[in-house]
Amino acid sequence: MTCVLHISDPHFGTEQPLVMLSLLRLAHEHQPEITLLTGDITQRARRTQFAAARAFVQQFPAPVIAVPGNHDIPLFKLLARTFNPYGNYKQAFGSNLEPEYESNGLLVIGLNTSRPSRHKDGAVSGAQIDRVSRRLRESRPEQLRMIMQHHPVRAREESDMSNLLIGREMAVPTWVDAGLDLLIGGHIHLPYVWPLHGHHGKSGRKGWTAQAGTALSTRVRGDTPNSVNLVMHEYSLGLHECRVERWDYCAQQDTFLPAHTNTLILSCEHRDSPIAEMT
Ligand SMILES: [Fe+2]
Repeated sequence: MTCVLHISDPHFGTEQPLVMLSLLRLAHEHQPEITLLTGDITQRARRTQFAAARAFVQQFPAPVIAVPGNHDIPLFKLLARTFNPYGNYKQAFGSNLEPEYESNGLLVIGLNTSRPSRHKDGAVSGAQIDRVSRRLRESRPEQLRMIMQHHPVRAREESDMSNLLIGREMAVPTWVDAGLDLLIGGHIHLPYVWPLHGHHGKSGRKGWTAQAGTALSTRVRGDTPNSVNLVMHEYSLGLHECRVERWDYCAQQDTFLPAHTNTLILSCEHRDSPIAEMT
């Protein structure tokens, strides 16, 4: 069974050392194939904060790939925000803001939804929608097809509607029809799993989105503790088995504990057929 660790919004600068140690223990116990970090790596996009984040992820047992969040762009340093918004990010996490990972059982497509021209809102462009759709269609039937980005595409709370990704109305159903199984994100520090649908009646496919809470930061939302997700996936005899396990940090026991499991029914229909695309 493939194990993927999804962490988000550590906000280095507000990280908690005990939670960091617990998360490292969790990662070493579960030995994920890869760890996916969906943005807001830092609190203020400072070089020292990125360096601390870099040093932390280097202790993980598996590769870590990341996409930026709105907090990873300088907020007050206007010159940097205008002319080199990802300078410190790139120094620590590499120049590719939209990394990909592919193995026999997994395809992960990174998407940069942060926008230096906006304050905290995220957006997706037509070119990004096309690129991701193309990659999804190129995937193999046995792969779990994931998109990782910072901004959420579905809200559980009414108050989060204003935080949703700009452009999601076109992007999400297009990607579901192209083969998306699971889109992961963060931003609002509230973990949940929600279904996604394709364009009405087009492919009949269904996908999912899984949000992670803040992994390490003191900036928890209300009484929602720090949390991460473990995505477990297996493909056998033409069938996908997939579940998202949420693990919450328990301060009393100083460890991450399993809190909730969502079993995802994945669509067997793989992607648009060329005929369906033409009609
Ligand atoms: Fe955040």
